Amino acid sequence: MTAHIIDGKAVAAKIRGEQKERILRMQAAHGVTPGLAVILVGEDPASQVYVRNKITACREVGIRSELIKLPATASQAEVLKRIDELNADKGIHGILVQLPLPKQVDVHAVLEHIDFHKDVDGFHLYNVGGLITGHTVFPPCTPYGVQKLLEHEKINVEGLNVVVVGASNIVGKPMALMLMQQDATVCICHKKTRDLAQFTTLADILVVAAGVPGLIQPQMVKPGAVVIDVGINRLPDGRIVGDVDFEGVSKKASAITPVPGGVGPMTIAMLLFNTVESAERSVAA
Ligand code: GUN
Repeated sequence: MTAHIIDGKAVAAKIRGEQKERILRMQAAHGVTPGLAVILVGEDPASQVYVRNKITACREVGIRSELIKLPATASQAEVLKRIDELNADKGIHGILVQLPLPKQVDVHAVLEHIDFHKDVDGFHLYNVGGLITGHTVFPPCTPYGVQKLLEHEKINVEGLNVVVVGASNIVGKPMALMLMQQDATVCICHKKTRDLAQFTTLADILVVAAGVPGLIQPQMVKPGAVVIDVGINRLPDGRIVGDVDFEGVSKKASAITPVPGGVGPMTIAMLLFNTVESAERSVAA
């Protein structure tokens, strides 16, 4: 079997195009342009790249973005004060605090300070808790992107065995809850799981977000499974690879996401989606 390659770049481009249309309609009908504020504390090089990509993506679809750069020495009080201002700003529909934060700033205090109606990253405790009951205001962007990819591929997860490898707050845990909400049978594996293959071989859909290059080898995959690789790892030779041995596993799976060009582009597309959604809700209110 040779797997169908799920083209995340194309699906993300389609979603971005749809957001552009929604924004034009909102501007014409209500004179409202969605606004996203991004807070970047410090100079972490990876964070700088992520933030730049988010700002560029906003510009391309017509979202007004505001970048608030604070020094690495910024106090927690300073960050919270900025969030207060953005919470009160009617022109701002989404607030994103880029993680990680410097040591002196408590990430939980910061995330919980964001008005959850503007929490387009879906990291506020209210939104995290809402995943349990299926009443989240904004699902987090990466698992939301995986969900959209599966929908685009017309894969109905109901009743299927889904194994999620990785139990992070940003990807693995919310992913598992979102799949459960859709009546999948979900198993979560993580760093301490013994004999990972024992679980992964049961998966009709395997979602891998462990941050370990080459973690998933062909013998760990059920023939015909759908494999979603959320990993983004830079090898010493500079190549970017996922957590799945793409070469080997694509001979066994029925469908697979590549890295790059799979889940990665979906994360930003869903951030744009959540921001436009938030602006539409503010207009409706
Ligand atoms: N750092 C790494 N990934 C993310 C993300 O999706 N959102 C934010 N805010 N910070 C991150």
